[in-house]
Amino acid sequence: MQVIKEIQTLRQWIGPAGPQDLGLVPTMGYLHEGHISLVKRALSENRRVAVSIFVNPAQFNDPADLEKYPRNEAGDLELLRQAGVGAVFLPSPEVIYPPEFNALVRVERLTAPLEGASRPGHFDGVTTVVAKLFNLFTPCRAYFGEKDAQQLLVIQKMVADLNFPVKVVACPTQREADGLAMSSRNARLTPDQRAEAPLLYRALLHAEKRVAEGLKETPQLLKEMTQIIESGPLAVVDYISFNDPKTLEPVEQINGEVLVSLAVFFGALRLIDNIRLQGGA
Ligand code: PAJ
Repeated sequence: MQVIKEIQTLRQWIGPAGPQDLGLVPTMGYLHEGHISLVKRALSENRRVAVSIFVNPAQFNDPADLEKYPRNEAGDLELLRQAGVGAVFLPSPEVIYPPEFNALVRVERLTAPLEGASRPGHFDGVTTVVAKLFNLFTPCRAYFGEKDAQQLLVIQKMVADLNFPVKVVACPTQREADGLAMSSRNARLTPDQRAEAPLLYRALLHAEKRVAEGLKETPQLLKEMTQIIESGPLAVVDYISFNDPKTLEPVEQINGEVLVSLAVFFGALRLIDNIRLQGGA
């Protein structure tokens, strides 16, 4: 496995003719089974697989969150070596954003609600860095998790609108045994917070059950889900939202497919999760 830190070396690894069959998995490191599931999918579908590890300052709207973002370079490289990855790109912030850097890639509308509303500027940082990674790697396929459902949609929209020649592959959310969606941020939960964190998924499953029973009204679902989450004394709901899974327009009633997503604070730490529900017609 080649560990690459400079753009010139990356270009050499990719080769003069461009990639014939290259899969890219962009990450911010502190890798867990969720990331590895993307890597395994990429390895099964591409001749060569590269992973990028870059804690992207541009997508952190809170400097303290960036400062505390967990890192484990040696552990990450070991996991990727074991998985059979060909190359890992580990650039410094200066390699990605040299002092004169002055570009921005923005998707409008889809970035307005949910994470976009709670984290101003976040998606501009995501789309700018992912556009850069797509141009650097020119991958055939790029792998993203449904855990970050809005990010996935925003990247799909960027690829469609700007004609990036890459296929975006959506991969299902990987969970701990108690249902908590795997996330690098989980490492920062205190034991008490960690014990409460499965309430997020429990609330989503409750919504699924109530919809299966025939409940359609989202205000009632919101009330019940909030009660479940806030039964945990440490959990504070940021948002619980019901949206069209393609446009992210809010929905009042669960008819057809609906994206249910939520964000919950544990102290300064914020966790997100989502599921898709299928309501009756
Ligand atoms: P990061 O949070 O490291 O996630 C990297 C990829 O792993 C994302 O596509 C994310 O959706 C996916 N992922 C994370 N947890 C997952 C889980 N439990 N199950 C399945 N997939 C999961 O998302 C980012 O980094 C950044 O925004 C990035 C796209 C790299 C741009 O900087």
